[in-house]
Amino acid sequence: MANVVLVGAQWGDEGKAKVTDLLSKNADLIVRVQGGCNAGHTVVVNDNTFKFHLIPSGILYGDKICIIGAGTVINPEVLNKELESLKEKNISVNRLYISPKAHVTLPFHIDFDKGNETKAGKRKIGTTHRGIGPTYSDKYARIGLRVEDFTEPRILVEKLEWLMPLKNALLKDIYGMSTYTVDEIYNYCMKYRFIFEKHMSDVTYLLQKAVNNKQNILFEGAQGTMLDIDHGTYPYVTSSNSSAGGACTGAGLGPSYIDRVIGVSKAYVTRVGEGPFATELNDETGKAIQDIGHEFGTTTGRARRCGWFDALVANYAVFLNSLDCMAITKLDVFDSFDEIKLCVAYRDKRNNTLYDYYPCSSHLLKYLEPVYETYPGWKTSIQNCRSFDELPENAKKYLKRIEELIGIPVAIVGVGPNRDQTIVIEDPIHGPKRELLTKV
Ligand code: GDP
Ligand code: IMO
Ligand code: MG
Repeated sequence: MANVVLVGAQWGDEGKAKVTDLLSKNADLIVRVQGGCNAGHTVVVNDNTFKFHLIPSGILYGDKICIIGAGTVINPEVLNKELESLKEKNISVNRLYISPKAHVTLPFHIDFDKGNETKAGKRKIGTTHRGIGPTYSDKYARIGLRVEDFTEPRILVEKLEWLMPLKNALLKDIYGMSTYTVDEIYNYCMKYRFIFEKHMSDVTYLLQKAVNNKQNILFEGAQGTMLDIDHGTYPYVTSSNSSAGGACTGAGLGPSYIDRVIGVSKAYVTRVGEGPFATELNDETGKAIQDIGHEFGTTTGRARRCGWFDALVANYAVFLNSLDCMAITKLDVFDSFDEIKLCVAYRDKRNNTLYDYYPCSSHLLKYLEPVYETYPGWKTSIQNCRSFDELPENAKKYLKRIEELIGIPVAIVGVGPNRDQTIVIEDPIHGPKRELLTKV
């Protein structure tokens, strides 16, 4: 038995879904633990592309139990579309279970998200406009609606009769937006009630049974470490704990049940939305990474900002998540590059102080510039390589240097978007447990 947490080690879109798909083969249950339809997860199987926002990509395997856990926020309209599109592709969704404790995104949450971004002007976060922040705000203010409320219409009406005057006052007076009647929101909820009635289940009990039966649970992360509400580049973050700790709180089980934590990083870095990004390339090289890597968001279609791999970010993620090993995806994007850079330190422009760790203060970041090492490219396609030995020497050197800098094994390498375009260097689940000391 091995219960595995998979997390993004950068700012999201690291290629987590492809690694989840790989690891799902050996899992019995796959659990989404946080975030909502801000996530966009792409899996390519035999050149067929599947895009997921809420449902764990493990649903592609016919025999796996898939769970949307308590820590997530669910937009019922998006969930409905996702279910329909899977059914159209003849993929059974009968094994999807949803926690009654998960919170629900309603139309006014999306209005508030858009309104906040407009009002913020140049201080905007660059959110996905999916209502994520406002849904989590209501959850923490303890005024949110949960999945279980959809199955008790009388309670739902009572809650809405109390909530809507409050939301309408804000919508009208502060945001200058249209309001909703209780009936409108109630009818919206009733339209999607059938989904929750069908899929709602006692997730704690399911997990407890799975643990007792020594089944394998895979906790599928969304977003990434640097977007974590507490430990990311605040305020340019999402509204949930997208680092490994979020798996325990979001699924609802204690940390002793986690056997292994696996991080996913691209061979470079991307970021969507605003916020600090030390190794960002606003030049032709950045554009080349964007074009070759097709770096446009799965959820919003926005162009992703691109830059060199940042070992300080990676090291921060190693400690914060207690990573046992790392998957490095999209190495093939560098196939035509003459040279590749790796950020190994930051230098303070004001006094030349060097940092070999990711600094905690967000105010300091604006004074820091990356210090790079440069590596020669391999100038050949690696898309058909299926073992570490088959990789060109320069690609091996680049990976070995990353491994040295982050202090944990690179267990998986992505060499293309297809399911089979993956190199497994060492068993990511049953490999040796690493020492908990980190490289600082
Ligand atoms: P996630 O949010 O972390 O699951 O990542 P996304 O699915 O949003 O973005 C990753 C994109 O890169 C997707 O379009 C994947 O199909 C693609 N991808 C994943 N791994 C590789 C890889 O190793 N090479 C290439 N070229 N593309 C990859
Ligand atoms: P996956 O799971 C990349 C970013 C947004 C924005 C910030 C806050 O596909 O890796 P939000 O809508 O969450 O309030 O936006 O977080 N963001 C992501 N960036 N991948 C994601 O998910 C993201 N989910 C949120 O772009 O900068
Ligand atoms: Mg994504």
